[in-house]
Amino acid sequence: MNLINRLLAGTMAVGALTALSPVTVSAQTAEVLHYWTSGGEARAVGALREEFEAAGGTWVDAPVAGGGGDAQATVLRSRVLAGDPPTAVQIKGPNIHDWADEGALANLDEVAEAEGWDDVLPPLLRDIVTFDGEYVAVPVNIHRVNWLWINPELLAEVDAEPPTTWDEFNATADALLEAGITPVAHGGQPWQDATIFETVVLGLGGPDFYREALVELDADALSGETMIAVFEQMRRIRGYVDPNFPGREWNLATGMVMNGEAAMQIMGDWAKGEFAASDLEGGMDYLCVPTPGTSGFILNSDSFAFFEVEGDDRIAGQRLLASLILGESFQETFNLFKGSIPARTDLPRDAFDVCAVRSMEDLDQAVADDSLVPSMAHEIAIGRSVRGAFLDVVTQHFNSDMSAEEAVELLLEEVELAM
Ligand code: BGC
Repeated sequence: MNLINRLLAGTMAVGALTALSPVTVSAQTAEVLHYWTSGGEARAVGALREEFEAAGGTWVDAPVAGGGGDAQATVLRSRVLAGDPPTAVQIKGPNIHDWADEGALANLDEVAEAEGWDDVLPPLLRDIVTFDGEYVAVPVNIHRVNWLWINPELLAEVDAEPPTTWDEFNATADALLEAGITPVAHGGQPWQDATIFETVVLGLGGPDFYREALVELDADALSGETMIAVFEQMRRIRGYVDPNFPGREWNLATGMVMNGEAAMQIMGDWAKGEFAASDLEGGMDYLCVPTPGTSGFILNSDSFAFFEVEGDDRIAGQRLLASLILGESFQETFNLFKGSIPARTDLPRDAFDVCAVRSMEDLDQAVADDSLVPSMAHEIAIGRSVRGAFLDVVTQHFNSDMSAEEAVELLLEEVELAM
């Protein structure tokens, strides 16, 4: 019995739930579940929709608002439980393998062969989207998490250069506070807290420590001196955000940097999609530099997976969508809008801005010197339950007066429980 049947066997309200989500049928149909609802994200997913429709497909849009995708993950699970999985879904990292392991995902080998994916995808992405040697998803981009976005005018007001260490960051932030400027634009949501946290882990501990703590979940790394220093730095950062940060969406925080309401934001390069949607230019209107202390690269990559569905039109829709996603022109258009860099390695760099080119160069460098690490906050490093433990502790610490020592104790406890 496959996953869906097994889940159905244990579900009482299936009829009622399936009836909630009818899908229009035509020759090539795709109902696409995604969480790309901010300005830059909507432009990017709009480009995919346009391409799909131009090729004759019927696109049924199923957006679930909520940055980082936690709300969408809940919807996906209930759709699968209801026996009504979407045709295509934006998922990533170990989640892809988990669904594939359950037998829930369609095999894309035929499309992969026809489109030559093996020749254009870097091994780091191939590992994410293949399971047991078969393609079960298609990557759309490469995002870098460890970016600091800066309003240059506000930094100039305190005569500061972009910080390259956390000590410099703290000194600059203190000077900004003194000048009455909010140093850090932040949205208080667990995934955003965890985004900052992992950049501090890399910046203070380096790539080996990052892997020990956030990938291998080594007890000494999780509870030792370096992790205590990470939580202490998180406490400093808490002092640099404005009072209205709780619950704020990440793109509104990016807007604060754009509008001069805050000097800096720590966020992945989907933030660049927001600057781009407002016609702002990297290196001029805003600055993009790696987060303090890092020469490495925290990898995040979005993919689409295709659930096993019935109906020729839906299966044809899946094939069409999968084949368009890695197309050369689409890769360029999409990633310019999204702020990411292409998933395929063979595209010319001319169309990309300074931030994207920096990302491409730093990625090459990180592969060469082994400082490429997978994002914990963005679900590339570890599965949802352990990630949940990190998010929980990081957020609890950020929003209370918990000491760094207490935080590492709790972290170790929660991670071990979730493993
Ligand atoms: C995704 C991005 C998305 C961001 C904010 C990340 O986890 O990989 O595609 O733009 O969350 O929602």
